[in-house]
Amino acid sequence: MAERIVLLPGDGIGPEVTEQARRVLVAAGRAVGLEFEFTTELIGGCSIDAHGTPLRDEVIAACKQSRAVLLGAVGGPKWDAMPVSVRPEKGLLGIRKALGLFANLRPAAVFPALVNASALRPEIVDGVDMLVVRELTGGIYFGEPRGREGAKGARRAFNTMVYDEHEVARITRVAFEQARIRRRHVTHVHKANVLDTSQLWVEVVDEIAKEYPDVELAHQLVDSCAMLMVQQPKKFDVIVTENLFGDILSDEAAMITGSLGMLPSASLATGGFGLFEPVHGSAPDIAGKDIANPLAAIQSVAMLLETAFTESGGAKAAAAVRKAVTAVLDAGHRTGDLLLPGEKRATVGCKQMGDLVLGALERGKS
Ligand code: IPM
Ligand code: MN
Repeated sequence: MAERIVLLPGDGIGPEVTEQARRVLVAAGRAVGLEFEFTTELIGGCSIDAHGTPLRDEVIAACKQSRAVLLGAVGGPKWDAMPVSVRPEKGLLGIRKALGLFANLRPAAVFPALVNASALRPEIVDGVDMLVVRELTGGIYFGEPRGREGAKGARRAFNTMVYDEHEVARITRVAFEQARIRRRHVTHVHKANVLDTSQLWVEVVDEIAKEYPDVELAHQLVDSCAMLMVQQPKKFDVIVTENLFGDILSDEAAMITGSLGMLPSASLATGGFGLFEPVHGSAPDIAGKDIANPLAAIQSVAMLLETAFTESGGAKAAAAVRKAVTAVLDAGHRTGDLLLPGEKRATVGCKQMGDLVLGALERGKS
């Protein structure tokens, strides 16, 4: 029986990278006996253009009937002037909320072949392997009241950062469970010297930590964490934090590893249902040129396989995808984003990178 996957390519480079990821998913799945049936739906700016809204109920319904969702990116200059309540990004936030995707896993690990691509010195980044566990459906992104009031000269805008203890508890458990299959260390990132929400987080995280005596816990203020991440990134194993801090720190973690173009993510609901997407955005400046890096989307496929198809060979297929990506990078192939400033080296395009990974997958079988 074919497994249903919803593709949400979205805007900008989303469609090009998603197409390469889809090809890799088909090939890696086939090797372990998985067959997929794809439905492609609109989200973000393209949905605004076609239907006047960034996310339709039909799309949410299709996702709910699928085994997993693979998303590209949303947004672009065309829709930038729109109010936040109707922008493309609202589609992404809407689908996270509608599908209950509260746990965002953003692994940032350095590929040995790319240690020199980081803006940091190689000895600092070599061996970095961290996982940002970001709360994704609460906090200031969704808190009410929010809005604007007043006329020019007296304009005011406000957002609310709010967390219920159960939201903190469930994401904390996800982080501790992840730590158990990694290096057994969790850093909770907060701003408890200023924010009440952070004080609640510290309390609840401490309580949940008692369920995991085998995992070490540290609390770290978000500002000093931002500093420590560039100073000693190897210190971090699992980072757990609220929505906005996680948004910012996961971009920082990505850059430490060399390029935002490399980082995958999984957004999971209770029960393990997930949406998988590259951390990078829609990169409108390079969209449609076939020069985008599809490796973040391709690695998101690895996360999809191991999460959604754990019992049907998914872990093996995911390992094969990662091995293929490593082989392609070790062989020296690079998309433009992976070059150092001033580096002279031939680059490959988006589709070509997809072909290379498919080739390596094929060779890896023998
Ligand atoms: C991300 C993005 C989104 C976010 C935007 C596009 C709404 O930056 O997934 O990190 O802020 O969560
Ligand atoms: Mn972000």
